[in-house]
Amino acid sequence: MTRILAIETSCDETAAAVIIDGRHIISNVVATQIELHRRFGGVFPEVASRQHVLSIQPVIEQALHEGGIGHVRELDAIAVTHGPGLAGSLLVGVNAAKGLAFASGLSLVPINHLEGHIYSNWLIAPGRAEPVPDDAFPAIILIVSGGHTELVLMLGHGHYRRLGSTLDDAAGEAFDKVARLLNLGFPGGPAIQKVAEQGRADRYTLPRPLLHQAEHRFNFSFSGLKTAVFNLVRQLEQAGIDLADGAVVADIAAAFQTAVAEVLVHKTLDAAIHHQARQVCICGGVSANAQLRELAKTACAEQKLPLYIPPIFLCTDNAAMIGAAAFYQRQPPHMNSLAVDVFANLPLPEILSTY
Ligand code: KG4
Ligand code: ZN
Repeated sequence: MTRILAIETSCDETAAAVIIDGRHIISNVVATQIELHRRFGGVFPEVASRQHVLSIQPVIEQALHEGGIGHVRELDAIAVTHGPGLAGSLLVGVNAAKGLAFASGLSLVPINHLEGHIYSNWLIAPGRAEPVPDDAFPAIILIVSGGHTELVLMLGHGHYRRLGSTLDDAAGEAFDKVARLLNLGFPGGPAIQKVAEQGRADRYTLPRPLLHQAEHRFNFSFSGLKTAVFNLVRQLEQAGIDLADGAVVADIAAAFQTAVAEVLVHKTLDAAIHHQARQVCICGGVSANAQLRELAKTACAEQKLPLYIPPIFLCTDNAAMIGAAAFYQRQPPHMNSLAVDVFANLPLPEILSTY
């Protein structure tokens, strides 16, 4: 039995969790900073790192306590996100983890945040029938978060090939920017989803970026879509249409959400069929989106492809997924914990293969 304490502070959630054998969540504590950043309309990096400093100790203590861990030495290892993310935020988690590992003599496992999102689908959790089986490779992974949109072919544990990514804005970033444009507040994804429920997706026509461009078959672009929403809002305003009218905003939100979800699902399925994937996994904050989940479910069912999406609480940033990723690491853990550093732009580790 391997017990890992995982720590995650890459953006605006201070999180710690205790995970057994990469699958079982013994405790999972997330202190969100959403209220703190709301008045800025987005994550304010300096404010985020200062809040991490305040929250990190109590969050770790709570995770250990809820996990029934009396002393850090009862653990087998400590895992921490070391990138990508906000450097100042990452530093708080990494320094806390280094201190604990150094003092206890435990090994420290530095984890890539994107790899963490991937392994959120390996966790056993209420609200999910069953997690990903260990041997079902190759898998197609769509990572959709506030900072990333990546389509990845996973050939085994830690064995990734990046098929494509966004050329500009990430999907979550597009949700956040369009929400700001429509005065719906922060974070944009849940806000858009909520108003879109009352809207009609077919009242306004928005583009489906890069949907049928062969040279960008597995890439995405959301910046033009955001501009299309901006132009639509301007046109409507010039035509004297009142945007304070909730129905208009709901229809725009529905059209936007549908455009994003359709492009994401189309390209993911195209990649899955092309690479003869045995399963499809979607993860990251945007995978909490109800319409994306529904469209993906229908499309995968049509192709008889197993689909895995985490329950909502594991879609957005958390430390449980970092603990799962740590368990499946192929390289031996870092014995010199003090050598672990942060990398704001850390890419997903790729093993180049001829597959
Ligand atoms: O994975 P995450 O928590 O943080 C990053 O690693 O970036 O993702 C946050 C992103 C935000 O852009 C947020 O608007 C989006 O996930 N998000 C959603 C939903 N819930 C969160 N987007 C669409 N629909 C949602 N329900
Ligand atoms: Zn994330």
